Amino acid sequence: MKKWFAVIGDPIAQSKSPNMHHIWYEEAGEDAAYIPIHVKAEELEQAVRSLKLLGASGWNVTIPHKQSIIPFLDELDELAQKMGAVNTVVRLEDGRLKGYNTDGPGFVQSLEETIGTGHRQDPLLLIGAGGAARGIAFALQQAGYTSITVANRTAAKAEAIVQEMGEGKALSLEEAESTLDLYKVFIQTTPAGMSTGNLELPFSMKKFPAGAIAADIVYNPLMTPFLLAAEEKGAAIVNGLGMFVHQGAIAYQYWLGEYPNTNGMIARLTEQLG
Ligand code: ATR
Repeated sequence: MKKWFAVIGDPIAQSKSPNMHHIWYEEAGEDAAYIPIHVKAEELEQAVRSLKLLGASGWNVTIPHKQSIIPFLDELDELAQKMGAVNTVVRLEDGRLKGYNTDGPGFVQSLEETIGTGHRQDPLLLIGAGGAARGIAFALQQAGYTSITVANRTAAKAEAIVQEMGEGKALSLEEAESTLDLYKVFIQTTPAGMSTGNLELPFSMKKFPAGAIAADIVYNPLMTPFLLAAEEKGAAIVNGLGMFVHQGAIAYQYWLGEYPNTNGMIARLTEQLG
């Protein structure tokens, strides 16, 4: 039987995942399909049952279902368990459903594709403490990053992440702002700079050091206000597109066993978005 996959969310029409996965199927000669399905919050349980019944081999989960899908799964990967959020479901051979989270690992993969693995001991500042930041914090820790500081407008949320990690430091955004020069690697995870939202940076870059590394998880626009300001100070830049492509690539690998061509995909999407 032809393998098929899906992405479920609300809204879903804007998702770039179907196009990305179809290009990979074509490149690999995989006879598979990947379908966007609009699922509202109150329809989630029914949707999971239907996907199972209709034989989906796996699916991605996006906003607003990443947490609420967990009770409908049979098993969770360790990182997904720690994060309390799932973005990838795999139907195992015995039909049981296992949840993974590839967002954080996708970010780390993208970061290290640009900066290599030689910065794991460098002081790192993670800005923001929402769902995306939590995933990235745990994935960085799992990858061996040893000096993580989390800064957030609501400092208590940064504190909660640090508590769960069992190491690291938490700061308010103001505290971080006045000590930016202590860090080497910066990861911006707040929605500030998204093309649909606010184009203002939520903190001052005055103390941003020379020769740093600046990563953002937003990819539309490719150059966020944070990345533009960091570039002006000579930083190496990692935009959010790599995270999107690698989270999809890791899911693809869980489903089909191979790691697809991420460089070609990043180049193609950069051209579309640029
Ligand atoms: P996601 O799941 O994408 O990470 P989220 O859970 O809504 O989204 O988290 C958004 C993060 O961006 C939070 O850390 C939020 O700060 P608060 O915890 O104080 O709410 C941060 N954020 C959003 N808008 C911001 C702004 N204008 N200035 C500073 N931080 C902002």
